[in-house]
Amino acid sequence: MKKTYLQSPVGATTLINGKVYDYFGGCGYLGMQNNAQVLKAAADAALQYGVSTATSRGGLGESPVYDELERQACAFFDCEKVLYFASGYLGAAVLTQADTRPYDHFFIDADAHFSLWDAAAASNRVITPYPHCDPDGLEVCLSRELQPGERPIVLTDGLFPISGEIAPLPAYLELIRPRHGRLIVDDAHAAGVLGEHGRGTLEYFGMDDENCRVSATFNKALGGFGGVIYGKKSTLENIERNSRILAGSSPPPLPAAAASAKALQVLMQDPQRLAQLRANVQQARTGLIALGWDLLPESPAPILCLPGRSGVNLFHLRDQLFAGGIAVEFVNSYPSAPAGGALRLAIFATHTPAQIKRLLEALRE
Ligand SMILES: Cc1ncc(COP(=O)(O)O)c(C=O)c1O
Repeated sequence: MKKTYLQSPVGATTLINGKVYDYFGGCGYLGMQNNAQVLKAAADAALQYGVSTATSRGGLGESPVYDELERQACAFFDCEKVLYFASGYLGAAVLTQADTRPYDHFFIDADAHFSLWDAAAASNRVITPYPHCDPDGLEVCLSRELQPGERPIVLTDGLFPISGEIAPLPAYLELIRPRHGRLIVDDAHAAGVLGEHGRGTLEYFGMDDENCRVSATFNKALGGFGGVIYGKKSTLENIERNSRILAGSSPPPLPAAAASAKALQVLMQDPQRLAQLRANVQQARTGLIALGWDLLPESPAPILCLPGRSGVNLFHLRDQLFAGGIAVEFVNSYPSAPAGGALRLAIFATHTPAQIKRLLEALRE
């Protein structure tokens, strides 16, 4: 396939190389990337405040745009404080750098995102991988590897980016609580999507535990840009004081912050959008199962992973769909992609039932 260029904001339909596609790629699950109010907020902020503060917030880099973003994010995540920084990728590093102790021992899901592996590697702590999404495997690793005086820190994605699996966080917490451990969750794909209000994997499981730390991004479902850590004021003030990443980097561009704030505001005023996403996921899942695809059990995750099956060349299928005006991704080398690769379908709240039907019909053919 020749190189593809996005020529419009991504959405349920997207202009690629001069042609309009039904778009099932990327991570814009709530369909906010082409929302008119979000785009206007970004444009207005660029004209009024410029692109960047050209200094960190600890310098003269404060702006009403960041205050507004933080106010909206506290309301959205129902928390006391948020930290906002240049990218979701940095979230785990901020947490491992600023909120861990020298005697911590990291236990990381073998299929965790690069961001968690890099954060762990930079920390100079002992790192033990445990089998993917497997509490029994974690228990074996904890019993075997945790040394007296060490505190276990478990690192995992909340919602895995390719497989669409949801990490069994309550089971992990049960294992680490008696050992006075912590859970660090990269919730990049779950923020906006999982849980009653779309707050993420903790809300999905009804968890509210002082031993959990969560980082997320505005760059996917939420339709803005930048990384976020949310939680209790005292905890986050401590992280803010100790984070070299926060002190030593510019905050996200002002139009990105304004877009993120507006997206959160729109989403909170329009809970129907999340309900529509759930309905679209259900429609796609039902159709795919009827076509014989082996999906994960019942799940609200908008990431549908179609692994290889006999008689189907996924690479070829991806190209055929593209030729027919449907854009999906074939992924074989990203964390949580199954061996041999998979077609990854991203379902959006803004896909119409007719678009999903077209996708299913094209797959049937
Ligand atoms: C699981 C996960 N965490 C973090 C990130 C990075 O987030 P951002 O794009 O905001 O840096 C990604 C991908 O972009 C991801 O898939």
